[in-house]
Amino acid sequence: MPEFLNWVPSDLDSSDDWIIRLSETVVDEIIDLARRNAHLSEDILSIGREQFTLSPDAADPFRQAVGSTQRDFGACLIKGFPARALSEAEFKVAVWGVGLYMGVARPQNVAGDILTDVRDSGSANYRVLNGRGYNTKSELDFHIDSGDVVLLFCRREAKSGGQSLVANPFSIARYLCERKPEYEGFLRYEYPFSLGGYQVDGRDFYLSPLLDGNGDRAAFRINIKNIKNGAVQAGIELPADYLNFLYEFQELAGSPRFCYRMHLEEGDIQILNNFRTIHSRTAFEDHESPDEKRHLLRLWLCLKESQPLPESWLPSFGRIEAGTVRGGFRNIELDSRFESYVRSQCQELGIAV
Ligand SMILES: [Fe+2]
Repeated sequence: MPEFLNWVPSDLDSSDDWIIRLSETVVDEIIDLARRNAHLSEDILSIGREQFTLSPDAADPFRQAVGSTQRDFGACLIKGFPARALSEAEFKVAVWGVGLYMGVARPQNVAGDILTDVRDSGSANYRVLNGRGYNTKSELDFHIDSGDVVLLFCRREAKSGGQSLVANPFSIARYLCERKPEYEGFLRYEYPFSLGGYQVDGRDFYLSPLLDGNGDRAAFRINIKNIKNGAVQAGIELPADYLNFLYEFQELAGSPRFCYRMHLEEGDIQILNNFRTIHSRTAFEDHESPDEKRHLLRLWLCLKESQPLPESWLPSFGRIEAGTVRGGFRNIELDSRFESYVRSQCQELGIAV
């Protein structure tokens, strides 16, 4: 079992090291750039560093933030991003703009969206095949997203609920194996994961352990919804004790011993390492007024500082070498300008294409 990242929620509570507060000067710079480029909000790929030129001092906290998720807790919270000061279109531009200084965006769905709205669109059940939880108000299974990091920019809070849950799967795995050593086999068992609507090598699922790799390469994944759908796609009946293990793991992830509960406030940016943390969200109630309803924007980014991954991550992420462009929905049709965006971001950030 890897020895690193042994944190538990009380460590996050007693440390401020993972929280960055934006200064007024930085915020003013972002507001100004967002307003000047608001007319480009419907064509996000037309906004590059030329349009959204942050000073080195303003870009610095964002670079620091993503870098910090690749060590320590695997999580970072930025506070004070402008939300009320901006219209929805301006907020979108601001999010995309600062993202240019952090990493390379990955497609988040089969439509190839690279900057997505997280809000309740009224869908009732996301646990169906290809259903996506981020457009509902339901409680979600613990899972990871497909990028080195996932970023949530909070524009509006829910009326109640909608707490963001983060857990350290390595601490949970260690806790379980100390009690029952045979659980190591359950962690290393190859579960069928659904690819959620796209195919790799003609298959719409892949086999992967929950925990794989050692040292710097160690990575963890879980998603009960995708495993159950993957089993259907693979024509496999998942043994009951393995399914029970998944639920036991998930229950621990949501328990006070392991679950860090965050109430994301307007202007908060939550950044999570997808190999070292797992996350979820509680169900929520929305406000009545349309512009007050819970609304977050989401980015999946690849980073220069990212870790190498175990071989078992190849089907889902496409690349396993450190600091490469990987993850996201692949084998889908993308805007031709997306390729040139990826090339120029890689060049700017020093990432291998
Ligand atoms: Fe997620």
